[in-house]
Formats: sequence, C-alpha cells, structure tokens
Amino acid sequence: MNNNVKIFDTTLRDGEQVPGCKLDTKSKLILAERIDLLGVDIIEAGFPMSSPGDFKSVVEISKIVKNASVCALSRANEKDIDIAAESLKNAIKPRIHTGIGTSDIHIKHKFNSNKESIIELAKKSVAHAKKHVEDIEFYAEDAGRTDNDFLAKVCEEVIKSGATVLNIPDTTGYCLPSEYGDKIKYLIDNVDGIDKVTISCHCHNDLGLATANSIYGVINGARQIECTINGIGERAGNTSLEEVVMILKQHSELGLDTNINSKLLNEISQKVSDLMGMPVQPNKAIVGSNAFAHSSGIHQDGVIKKRETYEIIDPLDVGVDKSSIVLTARSGRAALAFRMKEFGVNLSKKELDNVYGEFLIVADKKKEVTESDFPTMLNNQNIKYG
Ligand code: KIV
Ligand code: ZN
Repeated sequence: MNNNVKIFDTTLRDGEQVPGCKLDTKSKLILAERIDLLGVDIIEAGFPMSSPGDFKSVVEISKIVKNASVCALSRANEKDIDIAAESLKNAIKPRIHTGIGTSDIHIKHKFNSNKESIIELAKKSVAHAKKHVEDIEFYAEDAGRTDNDFLAKVCEEVIKSGATVLNIPDTTGYCLPSEYGDKIKYLIDNVDGIDKVTISCHCHNDLGLATANSIYGVINGARQIECTINGIGERAGNTSLEEVVMILKQHSELGLDTNINSKLLNEISQKVSDLMGMPVQPNKAIVGSNAFAHSSGIHQDGVIKKRETYEIIDPLDVGVDKSSIVLTARSGRAALAFRMKEFGVNLSKKELDNVYGEFLIVADKKKEVTESDFPTMLNNQNIKYG
C-alpha cells in the first residue's frame, strides 16, 4: 500500500456551511488559489446545484486551479450530477462527488426508503456521473452509524459502477477512533475490488474526535482525508487540515506523508479567518495565536534554554516566525531578562532582581506586561537604556 495520504480540502464546501460565513465568488477564488499552492490533492469547490452563486464559484475555481483536482458535490440524482459536471467543464482534473445516506435512520426518516432502493440509487448515480468524468467519489452519508455489513455491500456495488474513491463520512461525529478505524479495516477486508479505489475519511467534530478518527482511518488503510482549514464546518466543524498534516509529519513512525507545504499553514489559516470573519480560537492546535506562546515561568525557563523542552513543533515549520515569551504575573526572572535583552537591555543580576520587583507590581495589575511598560520599570530603577 502506498504511504501518501491525499488531502481533500473542503473548506470551500463543507467549511463554508458555517452559519454566517458564506463566501462570495471573489473570496472563494482568492482561497482556492492559495489552497492549491498549499499542495492539497483535491479542492472541493462547492455544491453547484445549491445556488447559482455556488455554480458560478465552481466554474471560476475550475478555471484557475492548476495542480489539484477540482471536485463538485451532488446528491444522488441525475439533475444534480449533470449540473456538477457542467460546472467542472473547465477543470484540468474534474471529480464528481455524489452519494446518499446509508444509515438506518437516514434511509427510514430522510428517504422513507429501504436498503435495496438505496443501493440501486447509489449505483445509478455513480454510473450516470461516470458518463461525464472518470474520477467519481461516492459518499455513504452517515457511514459512521451505518452497519458495516450493509456499508460493505454499498461500497462493493458502487465500485462495480465505476467509483474511484469511497468516502466514509462520520457525518454526525459519533464514532470513537477505534470504531472508525475498525470500520475502514472491515471494508478493506470485506469489499471486493477495494484495492482498486481510494478510501477517504470525512469526519465531523461533534465529540471533538474528528482529527483522531481521521488518523485512525489512515492507520487502518484509508489514503485520503477530507478536512478544512482551521477545522471550520457545520456545528462543531470538520477535521482540521493543519492538525492531520502536522500529526503525520511529527509522527514519522506511522510512515505516512502528505504533499502539503506546512510552511504555508499559518498564513492560510489567517486568510480563511479574515475572509470568513471567523476568529481562530487562541488555543487552537498549530494555528492558534497561543500555539507557540509560553507564559508560565517554568515553561519559559525551559524554552529559553532549549525550545524543544516544551515545543514539539518548530514554529518555522508552520510559518510562524518564532515562539513567544509572554510576560504575565506567572513569569519568572529568566523570561524578563530574555524579553529585556530583545528590547536591547542586558541586565546584571542585581538589576534584574530590582526590575523584577517592579515587574511583579505591574504584572499583578495587568493581564500582560509589554515592552511599552519597560521604560517606566527601568526608569524607576535608574537603569539607562536606549
Ligand atoms: O458529512 C457528510 O456526510 C458530508 C457529505 C455530503 C460528504 O459532508
Ligand atoms: Zn461533512
């Protein structure tokens, strides 16, 4: 089995389903160009049937994406599929992503249908999509809650109809990592023809497990992860692109890699946040503003002596200039001396003791002590600077 995990970016489709974060075509084009440069393998550009605006976005994105496959979502009906195909006609590498719900709850309550009819619709849709393009991804919506036996049957049938990628979405973010991993393994062991297709993980974060589930998926043989920048998406969001990429990079013992240029992660995270008007939580892994910030004295002392004592990722690897030492009432002398040195003042041991007393008074009043506080602290101790 090959060791390259394909990254399928769905920031512009599933990610954009965040309430209040809709993007216009111009913003989508700005992001699509950057997502392509990031090195993703597939960009899901939109759901063309959903609105004329989304159709137009997929058409325009198809024209500018140079490296990645461009994918359009559809439901399992001919009209959706035809419109998706039409929107992709300028794409160098077009992919249609079609599918249907396969869990009992979806079959009964969404479709008022039965398992046999669902399989027929799935087969028909894939076969119809295949008339338009070669690369067809099939999604078994709510696969996370679909019984493995039925899921295997659906997968086997859509492979026969021409699917090239099988998407196994944990649509409701319900699965445990071991359960999701076992599901992927079950399909590999029980579906005829599975070796001819790529299995894709598409996990939602309702229980905070989207990243873990995707990683268990690839450990068990999936070779594509569907994810979004900053983990944005409906409800609690999707698998976060930057998290899965850095997990595979940091854990080289897994023997899996991606084509992502990780040095662009911080920049693209900020661009998505700005264009969507959706702030990144400060403690977000990899791209949060605190991801490389240290504020407690013990940690600061360690990081100043050797960065790796409290950091497993070199900030430069994700496009962050450097780790930061934030001065708070929990900081110690080492951190104050370090920041004063950055400010251009080398304090003797005695001077440091004196300024540290001043520092604690300011730090107890403020959340964070900054360089703008330094002149007063130094003047109060008659220390020359500048
Ligand atoms: O979560 C999901 O099941 C989806 C499908 C439409 C792929 O987003
Ligand atoms: Zn989804």
